[in-house]
Amino acid sequence: MASKKNTNPTLLFIFGGSGDLTNRKLIPALYNLYIDNYLPEKFDIIGIGRSPFPSQEAYRDKLLEGVQQFSRRKDEANGTWKTFSSNIRYFEMDLMDDKAYDQIMNWIKEKATEWKAQPTIIFYLAVAPQLAPDIAKKLSAKKICDDSTHTRIVFEKPFGHDLQSARELNNLLKGMFEENQIFRIDHYLGKETVQNILAFRFANALFEPIWNSNYIDHIQITAAETVGVEDRGGYYEQSGALRDMVQNHILQLLCMIAMEAPTSFDADEIRNKKVDVLNALRKFSVEDVHALTARGQYAGGWMKGKEVPGYRKEKNVDPHSPVDTFVAAKFYVDNWRWQNVPFYVRTGKHLYEKSTLVVIQFKEAPHFAFPREAAETWRSNRLIFSIQPQTDIRIRFQAKHPGPHMSLDPVDMDFNFAEAYDGEEPEAYETLLEDVIEGNPTLFMRADQVEAAWKVIMPILEAWQKRPPVDFPNYAPGTWGPEDAEALIAKDGHHWVTLPSNNNKG
Ligand code: BG6
Repeated sequence: MASKKNTNPTLLFIFGGSGDLTNRKLIPALYNLYIDNYLPEKFDIIGIGRSPFPSQEAYRDKLLEGVQQFSRRKDEANGTWKTFSSNIRYFEMDLMDDKAYDQIMNWIKEKATEWKAQPTIIFYLAVAPQLAPDIAKKLSAKKICDDSTHTRIVFEKPFGHDLQSARELNNLLKGMFEENQIFRIDHYLGKETVQNILAFRFANALFEPIWNSNYIDHIQITAAETVGVEDRGGYYEQSGALRDMVQNHILQLLCMIAMEAPTSFDADEIRNKKVDVLNALRKFSVEDVHALTARGQYAGGWMKGKEVPGYRKEKNVDPHSPVDTFVAAKFYVDNWRWQNVPFYVRTGKHLYEKSTLVVIQFKEAPHFAFPREAAETWRSNRLIFSIQPQTDIRIRFQAKHPGPHMSLDPVDMDFNFAEAYDGEEPEAYETLLEDVIEGNPTLFMRADQVEAAWKVIMPILEAWQKRPPVDFPNYAPGTWGPEDAEALIAKDGHHWVTLPSNNNKG
């Protein structure tokens, strides 16, 4: 892999340095970037948090445990980790205290003197969302981010709780930072298979001419998870599946599928094309919401031989909670390309299997010249992007079944990433952190994108709030969600697609 060690010296402050995200995602990602020579020659990682650690070694040991558990590469011999982690330090500080920021200023000055260069400074806000605005204000008040070419600030989702709060947050940040300093993370955009949708669509001449309502019957996006809300009940009660997955990840996938061809890979050009899709998404009326969406909440039951509690029995969850752990919806993109093509989306917790899929269902062949008996198993063409955990692209077409008669079978042509690239696939956070270090915002959400996505979601949230669910919990764990989700697609004569190999499982 190409070395990027000539990038500017970098100081990465992780606010929330003792938290779960740092342990599970950020440090493993940085460690892999280090192994692949993607980190700058000079870099320092400074974790800041409120949890005490008896020593710097104890902090590093905790991070190493995270690497052993969550990184795609473990540190078997402990050798690489030692050199990597010698660049990591931890400070126990209260980020609500102004003095913490004076201290941060001092470190930056010290490092700039030591490195004899103006370093790139990144503030990664891996903290509870309600703390982020106050931290941003304190950074701004101390003028730490005034040099907009050298300082960056990274926000995790959720970015706002609804349209109004997202606007307020954007306006607040606009007054303090340049847009090009703000990196709003949607980790789905860092996934290799998601980025590959752009390569597939725009680096090949074959598909773009048929990528429209003349040839495509409908599109499906599924993001199914087997996990429940685990220990995130408190957060999830304020969120639900619609806010947690649809407002961001699912709509971003939809944008990748539906966007017009960019004229260049310039960050703003890509983001302009994506925001056009969000703006073109039909905004639902209250009647639309009832006809075009389905919501669900998991009951208690059994998953793979293990008993799991219903959502309402999870920790920090109201026993009468109306919160959705499953959503299905049928969207329309109102422009020339996608007129009348439904985009069916669904996502949920405690479903049958972990599977993120994008399905492009083509229309039937316009004329069928074969004898009727040839057509018994005939199916129209279908393209599936399997985003995770299987990572492949498969195209279904018709083939002649061997034998004396003309009989047709649907068969798959399959491109498998893991086989083709020998399991080299980086984690989403590796790509995203590398982009932050480089200052490339292409895969990050711009202010207007976040607001445009909320505009799509708001009518659904409002209609659901006005009419609380009467049948929750309405699906058993380990299934594909509530019956309403099946009905939503079945009434159009379709069914939700799953991967054939997975259909045969369990
Ligand atoms: C997060 C959501 O953004 O994405 C989680 O908050 C969800 O609830 C997760 O589990 C899914 O991510 P992935 O990469 O496992 O599909």
